Amino acid sequence: MPILNRPETMERITTPALAEAYIAEQIADLKAQIGDKKVLLALSGGVDSSVVAALLIKAIGKNLVCVHVNHGLLRKGEPEQVIEVFRNQMDANLIYVDAVDRFLDKLAGVTDPEQKRKIIGGEFIDVFAEEAKKLDGIEFLAQGTIWPDILESEAGIKAHHNAGGLPEELQFELVEPVRILFKDEVRVVGKALGLPDNMVYRQPFPGPGLGVRCVGAITRDRLEAVRESDAILREEFAKWGLAGKVWQYFTVVPDFRSTGVKDGKRTFSWPCVIRAINTTDVMEVTVEHLPAELIDHLVRRITTEVPGINRVLFDYTPKPPATVEWE
Ligand code: XMP
Repeated sequence: MPILNRPETMERITTPALAEAYIAEQIADLKAQIGDKKVLLALSGGVDSSVVAALLIKAIGKNLVCVHVNHGLLRKGEPEQVIEVFRNQMDANLIYVDAVDRFLDKLAGVTDPEQKRKIIGGEFIDVFAEEAKKLDGIEFLAQGTIWPDILESEAGIKAHHNAGGLPEELQFELVEPVRILFKDEVRVVGKALGLPDNMVYRQPFPGPGLGVRCVGAITRDRLEAVRESDAILREEFAKWGLAGKVWQYFTVVPDFRSTGVKDGKRTFSWPCVIRAINTTDVMEVTVEHLPAELIDHLVRRITTEVPGINRVLFDYTPKPPATVEWE
C-alpha cells in the first residue's frame, strides 16, 4: 500500500543519492500497486506532473497513458517540449489533444475573471474525461499531488486542486507518487530522473495559464502578444542570469489601447506590463528591481518584436495591495 502521510522522521531529499533511493523505492511500490494494469495521467508539463510521468514510465512503461491537453493558454514552446521530452526522448504513451479552438471559442467575449477561470477549469475536465472514456482498461489515475497540497487542504487554506473535480463516472484508484514530497524535493527527484532543467526549475504558472494575463475578454491576437512578450522576457531573464533568482516574472496585456508612433505613422495599440516578483509564501510579495540596461533592452525588444504592442509598463506594486496575477 502506498504511504499516504509523510512520516515525521523522513529525511529531506536534498541530494541526488537521496533522490535515487526515493526513485528506487517508488518504482518498486508503483509496480506492486499497479501490476500490469493501466494508469492515466493529465500531463501539463509542470514539474509535479512531469516527475509523476517520469517515475511511472520507469515503473510501468507504456501502461502509463499520458494526456496532454493544449488549451491554447500555455507558454510559447510548452506543448512542443512535452511532446519532445515524453514522446520522443522517454518513449511515453502520450496522447496530445489540440483543444485550442474549443477553449478560445468558449472564452470569446467573457470578461469576468472568475467566469474565465470557471470555463477554463470546466472545459479542461470535460476534455480530459472525453479522452479517458475513449480508452479501455484504465484502472488508475495518477496525480501530481504534493505534500503542501495536503497540508493546505487540511488547513482549509485552499481546495486541493489536484484531487476531486473529475466526473463521478471516472472511477479510478489514485496513484500519487510524489504525495509525501515538498516542492524542492520534487525538483531534486526530477533532476535525478533526467528531466530538463527548464522543466524542473520552472517558475510557478497558474492553471488558467496565460488566460489570466490576457486581461478582459481573450482574443487570439492579444493572447499572442502575451505569449510572445512572455517568451522575450523569459529569454532575457535567462541571459541576464535572473531566471533561477527571481521567483516569478511574466507579462500582462490589458485590453486598452494608447497612441504611439512607428515609422512616422500613428499607432493605436496595447501596452505590455512587466511583472517580476519575489516571495517565500505567496501571501506577501516584493517587487524585483531590474537593472536599467535590461529595462531599456526589454522595452526595445517588446515594442519592435511583438505585434500590437506600442508601450511597455512596469508593475511595481507589492502584494498586498495587489495580487501577483492581474485577474
Ligand atoms: P495571486 O494572484 O493569488 O497569485 O497573488 C499567487 C500565486 O498563485 C498563482 N495563481 C494560480 N495558480 N491557479 C493556479 O494554479 C490559479 O487560478 C492561480 N491564480 C494565481 C500565481 O501565478 C502566483 O504564483
